[in-house]
Amino acid sequence: MKILLIGAGTVGQGLLEILRDKAADLREKYHFQPVIVGIATRSRGTLHHPQGLDPAALLTALAQGDFTAYPETSGLERTHDVLTLIRTCGAEVMVEATHTNLDTAQPALDYCHAALDAGQHIVLANKGPIALAYHELREKAGQMGKQVRFEGTVMAGTPSLMLAMEALAGCTIHEARGILNGTTNYILTQMAQGMDYAQALAQAQALGYAEADPTADVGGWDAAGKVLILAAALYNQKMRLSDLSVTGITDITAADVAAAQAAGECYKLIAKITPTGGSVAPQRLPMTDPLAIVSGATNAITFNTDLMGDITLVGAGAGRLQTGFALLADLLAIQRQDRKP
Ligand code: HSE
Repeated sequence: MKILLIGAGTVGQGLLEILRDKAADLREKYHFQPVIVGIATRSRGTLHHPQGLDPAALLTALAQGDFTAYPETSGLERTHDVLTLIRTCGAEVMVEATHTNLDTAQPALDYCHAALDAGQHIVLANKGPIALAYHELREKAGQMGKQVRFEGTVMAGTPSLMLAMEALAGCTIHEARGILNGTTNYILTQMAQGMDYAQALAQAQALGYAEADPTADVGGWDAAGKVLILAAALYNQKMRLSDLSVTGITDITAADVAAAQAAGECYKLIAKITPTGGSVAPQRLPMTDPLAIVSGATNAITFNTDLMGDITLVGAGAGRLQTGFALLADLLAIQRQDRKP
C-alpha cells in the first residue's frame, strides 16, 4: 500500500514508530506492506521517493529537527510543495495528521480534496475536515470509489467509530454520550485530588494531551468537534459548531469539585449526541454512572441502542501510539475492503 503522510508531529511520528517496530508482524499476520512514498510537513520539509522512505530514518531525521539528515538516495526528491506532492507522488492513500483547525479545516481540507481528485483514499486523525466538511468529502470519495476513514478523530485508536458504524450496524443508536476530551478529564480528575486548575492544565500540556491551543480543550470545542463528527457518522447530520450548546470547564472551581465529592458525585465534561442535536457541558454524575469512574486522560462513550441496550467503551482518547494506531487500523480496513472480490 503506497502511503503519503501529511504531518509529522506527535501523531504522524506515532504511525511511523508503529510501522518501524511492527513491520514483520504486520506483513506476516495481515499481509500489510506499507510503502511511504511521500511525507510532508509545514516547517520541516517534504520528501518523495517512489520506492519508499524508511520509517526509522525518517524518525531519526525528525529527532534532529527536520529532513536534512535523511540519507540521500537515488530518486529522492526534496523540493515538492504539499499539493504538488499529493498530485504527483502516486500514493493510494493519503494520511492527514496535521493540526486541527475547527474554524476553516484548512489547509487539511484542500489536501483532502486534492488527494481524492488524485484517486487516493483518505485517512484522517485531523478533526477539522470531518467536523466541517464530512458530507462533501464523502460525496466526492463515493464518486471516485474511494474511502474516507477517520477513526483517530474520536477517542484516538479506541475503536469508537468502528464500533458504532461497523460492529453495531443493524442496531439503532438512540444516543451517544461520552467523555471525549482527555485534557479536561485529566484536569477534573486532578482537581478532585486537590490540584489547582492551572497546575493540572500545565501537566496535561506537558503530557501531550492538550491541543496546540488548549482553549479548544478547556472551552469544550475539541469535544464539540467530536460531537459534529459523531453526528455526521451516526446520524448523517450536517451540524455546525453554532448549532451545538457548548460549555467548557473554565468556570468549574475547586469548591464546585469539592461539593460534588461531598455529595458522592463527580464532575465530568459530557458530550451528547442524538439524532436531533448535540451538546457539551460539565455535569455532576452519580458514581453509579459508568462514565463517573473514567479518570485521567481516558475517554469513554456509551451508545444507547435498541437491540443491545447500553454499550460503554472505555480507552485512550489521545496519545502518540494510541492515535498512530487509529491510522493503522484505518489503513488495514482499507486494505481489507480493497481486497474484497
Ligand atoms: N486534545 C485532545 C484531548 C486530543 O485532550 O482529548 C485528542 O483529540
